Amino acid sequence: MILVTGGTGLVGSHLLYHLTLENDVIRAIYRTKKSIEAVQKVFFYDADNGASLFSKIEWIQADITDVPSLEKAFEKVTFVYHAAALVSFDPLAYRTMRQVNIDGTANIVNFCIDKKVQKLCFVSSIAAVGESINSIEINEENEWVVGKNHSGYPITKYGAEMEVWRATQEGVDVVIVNPGIILGAGFWTSSSGKFFTQVAKGFRFYTEGITGFVGVTDVVTAMLQLMKSEVKNERFILVSENNSFKEVFSQIAEGLGKKKPTIKISKIVTAVLWRIDTIISKITKKTPLLTKENAKSLHEASFYSSEKIKKEINYSFEPIKEVIQKTCTLFLKG
Ligand SMILES: NC(=O)c1ccc[n+]([C@@H]2O[C@H](COP(=O)([O-])OP(=O)(O)OC[C@H]3O[C@@H](n4cnc5c(N)ncnc54)[C@H](OP(=O)(O)O)[C@@H]3O)[C@@H](O)[C@H]2O)c1
Repeated sequence: MILVTGGTGLVGSHLLYHLTLENDVIRAIYRTKKSIEAVQKVFFYDADNGASLFSKIEWIQADITDVPSLEKAFEKVTFVYHAAALVSFDPLAYRTMRQVNIDGTANIVNFCIDKKVQKLCFVSSIAAVGESINSIEINEENEWVVGKNHSGYPITKYGAEMEVWRATQEGVDVVIVNPGIILGAGFWTSSSGKFFTQVAKGFRFYTEGITGFVGVTDVVTAMLQLMKSEVKNERFILVSENNSFKEVFSQIAEGLGKKKPTIKISKIVTAVLWRIDTIISKITKKTPLLTKENAKSLHEASFYSSEKIKKEINYSFEPIKEVIQKTCTLFLKG
């Protein structure tokens, strides 16, 4: 039996779709019934038989921070895809993020060890890879410097990876993927889905930052291939292209028939904006859109190398322009 965590999110839902193409039954955990509704939509993007594929999922209610709830989910499980996480740049979410991302992953790892799971695939992030020295392309070997001024999300993803490496010491084979910003359809009000929603609303701003981007189909295809391969106890950066936010937002605007971003936001303006947004969020009790953490990353230029996965399993990535075009088409379909 294959178990998927995070199946009600962007990566997990696309992963479930691809898994149901190849398997009769897949188990996934969920927290609320409402979150399952969004998953169904993803099953109809490419398939006429979306309903029958979706019916192959055995849903079990469980929270990765609640050990007893995971007991039933792990019955007879042999392969685990762990994609569940809390992705937030709100400093107030740090404590919860540690509980979900680090303690929750420790729970998943403990069950994998206890149930003698054959292989675990963990979705980490480029945020958990060490930074570049002298602007050289970052690869899987870049050292994470403990104590450096890391923000909350990267710390928790790095901490989660440490838990996953522990599994390898206890006899569980592991593959870790470190995707860049993942672009894909279906979740327009969370994570990178917000880019499409914002541009559709006429967002015209951009920063000079550069980072790695990858399509969601590439993320799940690479995960499936790594799980089927002999590869074990390795991590792989998944980045199709290193692009500027300006370029990506321009391509999204083009795909949605909107005006391209033309208003450059400088570091100083960003610094003012995140402070204002922090104050507003404290008054309104809403999650801030811009925080000290994500403001910094909007101006950094980081280049990532995916040579390792290209060589190891002969993987080739879909160009970001094509990913954006397809995602925009699905966005416009509603
Ligand atoms: N999106 C990106 O650009 C990006 C880039 C690099 C790496 N990643 C990593 O990729 C993975 C998937 O990200 P995503 O974009 O698919 O995120 P997402 O759309 O926000 O989905 C997160 C998933 O985690 C689940 N989850 C959160 N807390 C949980 C808990 N306590 N117990 C059980 N499930 C819980 C959510 O369930 P509910 O539906 O119940 O909330 C949801 O299914 C994450 O590990 C993330 O760190 C994402």
